[in-house]
Amino acid sequence: MTVAAVLVAAGSGERFAAAAPKAFVELAGEPLLVHALRALLGAASIDEVVVVVGEQRRAQAAAALEAAGLPPAALVAGGATRAESVRSGVAATAADVVAVHDAARPLVSPGLVDRVVAALYDHTDTSHPLSAVAPALAVVDTLKLVEPTRMQVLHTIDRRALWAVQTPQVFARRTLQRVHRRLKVTTATDDLVLVEEAGGRVHLIEGERRNFKITYPEDLAMAEALLRTSC
Ligand code: C5P
Repeated sequence: MTVAAVLVAAGSGERFAAAAPKAFVELAGEPLLVHALRALLGAASIDEVVVVVGEQRRAQAAAALEAAGLPPAALVAGGATRAESVRSGVAATAADVVAVHDAARPLVSPGLVDRVVAALYDHTDTSHPLSAVAPALAVVDTLKLVEPTRMQVLHTIDRRALWAVQTPQVFARRTLQRVHRRLKVTTATDDLVLVEEAGGRVHLIEGERRNFKITYPEDLAMAEALLRTSC
């Protein structure tokens, strides 16, 4: 079994509102994608990595990897949506298993990557070939369903059954390609939903709090603080 990580880093990062795409924003002096890539390369289960960046960003990404002392990675051009970027990345590997990870989660640990890959092996059997595994955290906030124009609360949602999903999300490559081929609308914000809609089985394992997604500028300050405390 060979395992490829597909690191998606081709988003524009509109909510982050920086001059550069979010994956190239620096955290402790290095772009987010370099941090994420280092963790993926450090995972014993990962044999190869494909990095998906914006069409115009390949040279910049190659330079960032070299500056960080990381080995050259396969660099492919992404698409207009995350799903299209994933599809491009998966097309660039022949590995048996694919772990799709967001560059916007730079503090993922190699150990978590290995645990998710191992969980896919545990959950795959021949009767259910359409399987996927991802890390997730139990929701801690109280959740309200809201009527958006007046911001009026309709009701409170029982959070005990709700989990916030992270990446890496791990699949057999053939499964991922099969569900992507079925995809008509390419606005899916993760790949698990494609397996769910195809009638497959999706399992979650306990994620890590530090594996949060850098979305807003203040998230960077939190990530910097976490990096300092874990050195
Ligand atoms: O926008 P969001 O934070 O949900 O993006 C999640 C990940 O998907 C990011 O790492 C981003 O770079 C990637 N992405 C991509 N191609 C797109 C949109 C998002 O690779 N067109």
